[in-house]
Amino acid sequence: MKICRTIPECRAALGELRRAGHSIGLVPTMGFLHEGHISLVRLAQENADKVAVSIFVNPAQFGEAADLDAYPRDEERDLALLEEAGVDVVFLPEVDAMYPPGDETIVETTRLANMLHGKVRPGHFRGVTTVVSRLFNIVQPDVACFGEKDYQQLQVIKRMVADLHMPLAIIGGKTVREADGLAMSSRNVRLSPTDRQAALVLSRSLDAAEQAARNGTTVNALDGLIRDTIGTEPRAEIKGLDIVAAETLDPVSGSLTGPTAIMLSVAFGEILLLDQRVVAP
Ligand code: PAJ
Repeated sequence: MKICRTIPECRAALGELRRAGHSIGLVPTMGFLHEGHISLVRLAQENADKVAVSIFVNPAQFGEAADLDAYPRDEERDLALLEEAGVDVVFLPEVDAMYPPGDETIVETTRLANMLHGKVRPGHFRGVTTVVSRLFNIVQPDVACFGEKDYQQLQVIKRMVADLHMPLAIIGGKTVREADGLAMSSRNVRLSPTDRQAALVLSRSLDAAEQAARNGTTVNALDGLIRDTIGTEPRAEIKGLDIVAAETLDPVSGSLTGPTAIMLSVAFGEILLLDQRVVAP
């Protein structure tokens, strides 16, 4: 596994692989890796000859400096996990390299970035598209993998790639869950044992919604079903429940007609958990 800390090193390592005729898959991450990230590595390995993983805690997508400083990091453990997963190249750039002094170019999906989660976190998705487009230009992958767990992020990236005619395929990976159904996230360790148990209501409510959708239902009925299910846990407070068209994220109403994304954010005390499911009639 080649570890590259500068852009020239990364370009050289990938250039060599490309000249040897290999296709390249990229998995962008912010590190502190878990099985969800590793599942994307495997997905990239299935879709490309060689796999690069970037680890970069991207300041541009954080609202507050304190939040950025608090982001968990463990480079040694991350590198061991990637080595074990059979990754070919790891790219760990410095902030000054990704954002050279005097830089002023941003990339933004003007509509998708500013709705739903983007409304609550102004500038977040602009930071994501700006860094991901820079990573794509450095690595020049044939495919890149992103998790469905961050559903709006996946749609934003797909839109950017289509609009800017970027020559690569974006592949979405299924959400990896703990054995009991809770979506894996670095935030889960901060839940108290009671809240950890209560948090199962997220996947339970999405399971119920998926079943109802399959049997034929309306958006209103789905909304009610999810609110009722989550309402059974007194500790759970719904912060966001959006039922939208799976690709455009536009609101939908009436009977379900096509793929529909349910985007859920629920607070347990201080901890906000996200989960989502695409359902179809
Ligand atoms: P990060 O939060 O490190 O996530 C990296 C990738 O792992 C994302 O595509 C995310 O959707 C995926 N992921 C997270 N939890 C997952 C789970 N339980 N199952 C499957 N995939 C999961 O998302 C980012 O970093 C950043 O915004 C980034 C795209 C790297 C840009 O800075």
